[in-house]
Amino acid sequence: MKEHQQKRGTWSSNFGFLMAAIGSAVGLGNMWGFPYKLGMNGGFAFLILYLLLAVFAGYILTMTELALGRYTGQSTVLAYKSIRKQYAFVGWLGMLSPFLILGFYSYLGGYCIKYMLANLGDVFGASWGVGGVDGAAYFSNLTADTTQSIIYTLVFLLITIVIVSYGIEEGIERFSKIAMPALFVMLLLVIARSVTLPGASAGIAFLFKPNFEVFHGTGWISVLSAAGGQMFLSLSIGMGITITYGSHLAKDANIERSSLIIPLADTVIAILAGLAIMPAVFASGQSPQGGVGLLYMTLQTVFNGMGGIGPFIGFIFYGLVVIAALTSSVAILEAIAGSFIDDAMNKGKGDKRKFYCWFFGILSAVLGSLIAYDGLGQNLPAMFGKFCWVDGFDLLAEGIMMPLGSLFATFFFGWIDREILPKEIHQGSNFKTEKFYRFCIRWIAPVFTFFVLLGQLDSFFGFGWFS
Ligand code: ALA
Repeated sequence: MKEHQQKRGTWSSNFGFLMAAIGSAVGLGNMWGFPYKLGMNGGFAFLILYLLLAVFAGYILTMTELALGRYTGQSTVLAYKSIRKQYAFVGWLGMLSPFLILGFYSYLGGYCIKYMLANLGDVFGASWGVGGVDGAAYFSNLTADTTQSIIYTLVFLLITIVIVSYGIEEGIERFSKIAMPALFVMLLLVIARSVTLPGASAGIAFLFKPNFEVFHGTGWISVLSAAGGQMFLSLSIGMGITITYGSHLAKDANIERSSLIIPLADTVIAILAGLAIMPAVFASGQSPQGGVGLLYMTLQTVFNGMGGIGPFIGFIFYGLVVIAALTSSVAILEAIAGSFIDDAMNKGKGDKRKFYCWFFGILSAVLGSLIAYDGLGQNLPAMFGKFCWVDGFDLLAEGIMMPLGSLFATFFFGWIDREILPKEIHQGSNFKTEKFYRFCIRWIAPVFTFFVLLGQLDSFFGFGWFS
């Protein structure tokens, strides 16, 4: 092992790695994206499609990225570049996507901190609580208050920078080992309340009732692209994270097993998030929606209407979303800074972790502040003429750059350099799914990814190909 690899840090245990990797996967995507998309796109029918995608593309791409990271011992840009110089541009795509994401992620994560504190305020009847103000009104006051929005964005980012600056083992792993089990317990607490509310069964039916109609005609492409976009963001594929986390794995770690556990845990938590959210939404007579509307308006209205226990459940719920967002944002910042930290180390410039964490943290703070200032489309010109800044960056990264990067990855490792990664995966596992892996990386994953990309491009540019 080269000297720089010894110094760049390794996960101290497999449990620690898994908590960090599952933490990177479980984020805002699970909380506000999955439950809504599941309900709106055919319930159980969507779930089957999502699971197929997770097996044929998610599992395969997670394994590819973990193996690429560990084989090269480098973060995204350098990982691709060390296979072939010509591959470096895909590494840059995988570094740019998390950069575009971190700004809006911090803005939304900052709001979760605000809501967590406001619900805590209500527990104590304090003046800084929500005070029973209607969820929609409370949220629109908050987005209009650009100073407060920027402050919370910066607080969220500051916590992220501090954790990442402590490094892989002392920072990210240590935080995730406490945060992820806490998140799981908090999620179970909220589910226990949500599914026992009168009228909760309508929410369960919304989530799981199969509706295969959505697949008719070209509908299947829209559903596939909704499921696929969700999967790329949720599994942190094509955004540098999984390569970077893989690059810190020990040589005897079982990549095959981890590639199964991470998507599985992420999907189970996404379904549990659905069970925490939708039954309560329906029980309180609200209509389901996704995105910011669900997370901040509908759910706060739900907690307002729960009576005495509402603020407490609200505090726990937003607390768990803060944890989910932070375990993802640390991975996002690591994925941005990692290649630069590695490059400095390779060139003998020493450990520049703190410098690059703050450097990219400050750049993200500028971007995040602009996004917060925009207040979801109130103050800045629309991106691409039609999107508020949160949606613009989200669609660009999740919808286009991440599937595009992954499509290239399937081409490189399914068609050109076919032997490197299977050999790497064999170290630490007996790679029972090797034949399946080789077939899927060559044929199935690229086809799935291509249609996901096509569907996303269609909705991004409004071509109307599949409507
Ligand atoms: N994987 C993270 C999420 O789902 C980025 O939000």
